[in-house]
Amino acid sequence: MSEEGLSNLMHEDRRFPPPPELAAHANVTAATYAEAEADVEAFWAQQARRISWETEPTQVLDWSNPPFAQWFADGRLNAAYNCLDRHVEAGLGDRVAFHFEGEPGDTRTITYADLASEVRQAANALTAIGVEAGDRVAIYLPMIPEAVVAMLACARIGAPHTVVFGGFSADALASRIQDCGVEVVITADGGFRRGKPSPLKPAVDAALESCPDVHHVLVVRRTEQETAMAEGRDLWWHEFVGGQATEHACEFFPAEHPLYIMYTSGSTGKPKGILHTTGGYLVGTAYTHWATFDLKPETDVFWTAADIGWVTGHSYLVYGPLANGATSVMYEGTPDTPHQGRWWELVDKYGVTILYCAPTAIRTFMKWGADIPERHDLSSLRLLGSVGEPINPEAYVWYRHHIGHDRTPVVDTWWQTETGMHMISPMPGVTVGKPGAAMTPVPGVKVEVVNDEGQPVGNGQGGYLTVTHPWPAMLRTLWGDDERYVDTYWSRFPGMYFAGDGAKKDEDGDIWFLGRVDDVMNVSGHRMSTTEIESALVSHPKVAEAAVVGATDPMTGQAVVAFVILRSEAGDGGPDVVQELRAHVAREIGAIAKPRQIMVVEELPKTRSGKIMRRLLRDIAENRELGDVTTLTDSSVMTLIQENLAASP
Ligand code: WTA
Repeated sequence: MSEEGLSNLMHEDRRFPPPPELAAHANVTAATYAEAEADVEAFWAQQARRISWETEPTQVLDWSNPPFAQWFADGRLNAAYNCLDRHVEAGLGDRVAFHFEGEPGDTRTITYADLASEVRQAANALTAIGVEAGDRVAIYLPMIPEAVVAMLACARIGAPHTVVFGGFSADALASRIQDCGVEVVITADGGFRRGKPSPLKPAVDAALESCPDVHHVLVVRRTEQETAMAEGRDLWWHEFVGGQATEHACEFFPAEHPLYIMYTSGSTGKPKGILHTTGGYLVGTAYTHWATFDLKPETDVFWTAADIGWVTGHSYLVYGPLANGATSVMYEGTPDTPHQGRWWELVDKYGVTILYCAPTAIRTFMKWGADIPERHDLSSLRLLGSVGEPINPEAYVWYRHHIGHDRTPVVDTWWQTETGMHMISPMPGVTVGKPGAAMTPVPGVKVEVVNDEGQPVGNGQGGYLTVTHPWPAMLRTLWGDDERYVDTYWSRFPGMYFAGDGAKKDEDGDIWFLGRVDDVMNVSGHRMSTTEIESALVSHPKVAEAAVVGATDPMTGQAVVAFVILRSEAGDGGPDVVQELRAHVAREIGAIAKPRQIMVVEELPKTRSGKIMRRLLRDIAENRELGDVTTLTDSSVMTLIQENLAASP
C-alpha cells in the first residue's frame, strides 16, 4: 500500500465499541489482558488447562536453545482424543460437530460421537496399511467431512499429516510428498465445484509417477466419477475404512510430537514445510478460538468459510473448534453456486452466529450487491471475523452493516501459517474497533513494530512486525531445514521473530498492517511466491526470463502479473503464447497461481548488480508513473517496455 493510501487510512475515524450485551458476558475482559501482562508463562500454563493431558505438564516454555522452542514438554496427550473422545466421555456425544453442506445440496449432520467413531475406524485403517507414529501422510481432498476424519485419524496415531490444497497441481503435490517423505496418500475421486464434479485422483496418479515410496492411496468416493484404481496400491475408503472396527485405543504422545506439516510460499522458489507440534498448538488454537470469537460452545454455530488446505482450516475449522466442543458449518463449494446468495442461505439455514472469512470474499459480495444478503435472515449472526490480508475500511464497514446489521463486532485477525494461531486481533468484548486495523496483540502475545535497526518505533510510525516472546502455537522449525528456519525468521532481528509484514502504529499505538515486505504476494488471502511463479514460467521451453510482481487488484487484494522474455528460437511465441504460459503455470503450481496478466517484453529492468527491479514493474502493472529509475543499468529499458506494451493489442 502506498504511504498516501496509508495516511488516508490512518485518518479513518469511525469507531465501533463492543455491543454492551456482548461485553457483559464476554470471555475476554480487561482482566484477561492484565493477567497475561502480569506473568505470561503463568497465563499460558493456565490456558493449557483447556485441554486434557494424560500426563499434566509441569514445564511451560523451554527456551534454553533459541529459536527452538518447547512448550509443555513433559506433558503427554493425544490431539484427536482432545477433539473428540473427551467430549463424548463428558456426555456431549450428541452435540453436532459439523453441519456439512455439499455444493450440490447434499447434507450430513455429524455429531461428536459419529466423528469419534469414524476417526477410530480410519485410525485402524491407517495402522492396517502400515502407518506408524511419526510417518507422514498426505491428504489431498475436497472440503468434505472425510478431510477432518483423515486429519484426526493421523493425529490419533501420531502420524503427522500434510494437507495439500485440492487446487494445487500434480507437480505441487509431488514436491510436497517428496519433501517430507510421504508413503500414504488420502484423496477422493473428486469434489463438486461450480456445479460440476472436478476430479482429484488423476492428479494423484500423475504425482505418484515421481513418488515411488507411496505404497497406499485411500480414495474417498465423492463424485462417483470413473476412477482408475491401481491394483495393490489404491483402496476405496468406503470399503477399506468402512470395514474397520470402531474401537481403537489411543496412544498418548509427548507434547512436542509433530502434529502436522503445512507447506507455504516463502521468498524463494521452494515452499517451506511449516512444522507444528501437538500440545502448544492445541492450547494456542483452543484458547484463541475461545477468546477472539467469544465462543459459547453450547449455543454458537461457528463457520470458518476457508478451505481445509490452508492453515485457517486447520486451526479454526478443525483443531480449535473441535478442542472447544463447538458446532461448526462446513461447506464444500463456491459462494455463487447455484446462486450468489448461497452463503446467506446457509447462515439462515444453520443459524450461524459467528462467521469467519477473507476480505476478498467480502469484496466479492460487495460487488454482487447488498440486495443479495438482504433476501436472507441473518439475524442469528453476532460476531464477524476477517483473515488473510488487511481488510480495507470500506469492506469492513460494509461487512458490519450489510451482514452484521450494525450489531456485530468485526474481528480482523492477523496471523500466519507459522504462528498457528491468532496473534493480533481485537477482542470483541473489549476493543473499540477501527475499520482497517488489526489493533492489538491477543492477551498472551507480545509484539513490537521495529525499524531497520530493530528498535521499537513510536506511535505514528511504521516498520516491521516482530514477535518478541515465544508463543505456544509457534512453528517449531521448517521440515528438514533448521537452518532455513533460523535464517528466515530469527536472523533479521536477533531474538525476535520476523514475520515478513510491514506494519504501522497509529497515534494510539494500535497496529495497522501494510502487506508483505518480502517477495511474497497475497492473492485472495493466499500466499504466493514471486520466485516460485517465475521458476514455473522459466521452466517453459519458450521462456528465457521472467519477473513476477503482485499488483494491487480491487477484488483479490493483489494479482499476479508476469513479465516474460521469450527465447529467440521461440520468435514472437505465436498468437497463443500468453494462454499457453498461463496454462503452464496452472499445471506447475495450480490454477490459483495463474497470472492475471502476462506481458511479453524484450528486456527487464535490472540494477547494476543484476537484481530485477520489481518495484518498477509494479508501477507498470498498476498503471502508475514510474518511480526512481536511477539505479538501473539502462533506464531506457523502461521506455522500451512501455512502448512495447502500448503497441501490443
Ligand atoms: C497476511 C493466513 C493483514 C500477512 C492466516 C501474513 C494479514 C500472511 C492478515 C499469512 C490480517 C493474514 N491483516 N494481513 N488480518 N491475516 N495476513 O500464512 O501478510 O496464509 O504474513 O496465513 O497473510 O498468510 P498465511
